[in-house]
Amino acid sequence: MRRVAILISGRGSNMSALIEAASAEGFPAEIALVISNRADVPGLANAAANGIKTLVIESKPFGKDRAGFEKLLTAALDEHGIELICLAGFMRLFTAEFVQHWYGRMLNIHPSLLPSFPGLDPHGQALRAGVKISGATVHFVIPETDAGPIVMQGAVPVATDDTPDTLAARVLGVEHQIYPQALHLLATDGIEIDGAVTKTTACIGSDDNLIAPTVI
Ligand code: GRF
Repeated sequence: MRRVAILISGRGSNMSALIEAASAEGFPAEIALVISNRADVPGLANAAANGIKTLVIESKPFGKDRAGFEKLLTAALDEHGIELICLAGFMRLFTAEFVQHWYGRMLNIHPSLLPSFPGLDPHGQALRAGVKISGATVHFVIPETDAGPIVMQGAVPVATDDTPDTLAARVLGVEHQIYPQALHLLATDGIEIDGAVTKTTACIGSDDNLIAPTVI
């Protein structure tokens, strides 16, 4: 049973999906700690309602002093014997040292099919680019934002009348499916990192191909 910390900054719906999955019998990881860098975010209350230990470590007072913030973060992670980290809507950049320390043990989820549309407003970027399929990506964290070896992706069709909000809602559904599966894979040592890519013991799904739009 691997001890996992989830780091959040807001709503925490991915956090909730991870907590729910991990509560199932036989799941190979335990959500031991939820840390938010902002007080009073909805995710904290949800985690606490599920009996998960929560902590607030405010990053704002540290300003650009990322290492100072990470000192407190590291102390909390160590104190709780954390082995793996899942970033779930965590809106704070790390130092290269912190990322290096956790390399191969820290996952992030981004709501686009990386390497397309990293950074802010991924759904707006996708709509402006006119892609017909978008999705979400779980990847290992590296110093570069929204990059790093890809663990799992899920795709959704993009509708002609989509707005960033409607596309975000559709992609969120797939996020909630893939993040728990990616954590399961990591916690069972089912991922091998080979340079910039990962190889997994999991096989490709048997679902039909996703084609969008469909004509006939
Ligand atoms: C998700 O879309 C996630 O992919 C992105 O930020 C959003 C967080 O949503 N990194 P939530 O807090 O998990 O509901």
